[in-house]
Amino acid sequence: MRLAKYLAHAGVASRRAAERIVAAGRVTVAGEVVTDPARDVDADSGVAVDGRPVAPEPHETYVVNKPLGVVSTARDTHGRPTVVGLVDSDRRLYPVGRLDADTSGLILLTNDGALAERLTHPRHGVEKVYRATIAPGRPSPRALRALREGVELDDGRTAPARVRQLGPDGLELAIREGRNRQVRRMAEAVGQRVVALERVAFGPLRLDGLAPGSSRRLTRAEVERLRAGRRHTPGP
Ligand code: URA
Repeated sequence: MRLAKYLAHAGVASRRAAERIVAAGRVTVAGEVVTDPARDVDADSGVAVDGRPVAPEPHETYVVNKPLGVVSTARDTHGRPTVVGLVDSDRRLYPVGRLDADTSGLILLTNDGALAERLTHPRHGVEKVYRATIAPGRPSPRALRALREGVELDDGRTAPARVRQLGPDGLELAIREGRNRQVRRMAEAVGQRVVALERVAFGPLRLDGLAPGSSRRLTRAEVERLRAGRRHTPGP
C-alpha cells in the first residue's frame, strides 16, 4: 500500500496530512528517510514517524443512532456536534456516507477504509431503509408506483425502490442509491414533503433498540455480514 495511505490507515494523520509528514522527511522505512508518499509499504516494512514505529490500527466499526441536529461529518466548521463525538474510541473513525443534520437514525462509523468503500460505492448498491413522515400525506397509488419505479430528479431518474405505506402520513422507502437529500427529493417529486426522516436499516443491519445518541461496536460476525454485502433486503 502507498506510504501515505498506510500512515492514514494507521491513524497517524489524514491522507493529505500524511503526505506532508512524508515530504517533511519525518518518515523512515527500514531506517531510511523516505520522502515519496507513493512508496509501497506494508506492516513488515518498518515504517516509523519521528523515530516511532507505526503499526496498522486494528479496525473498529460502530453503529450509531444519530439524533437530529448532529452532523455526520468527522468535524463541523460551525461547531455543531458530530456523530464521531458520540462514540467512545481512540481510533480515528469516520462516518460511512452521510445523513442530513435533520435526518435521524442509523449511521456507521469505521476506520476501515475498504469496508467504507464497499458500503458506499454505487456499484455495490447496498440497500438503505428510511421511514418518512410526509405531508400532506395519503399518497395516491400513482405516486407510490412512481416512487417504486423511479422518479425524475434534477440529477437523473431514481432506480427502482421498495416502498411501503405506513399509515396515512408514513412511508418506508428502501433505496440502493445515496444521492444528496434523495428521499426528500423523491417525496417532493410526487407532491409530498418529508417532515421527519429516520434511517432504520443499512444493508443487513437494523437500528433495533439502539437509543438516539447511543452507539454499539459491531461484532466481527456483523462486520463480515456487512462486508459480504449480501443483496438481501432487510425484513420489515
Ligand atoms: N435522503 C435524504 O433526503 N436525507 C438523508 O439524510 C438521507 C437520505
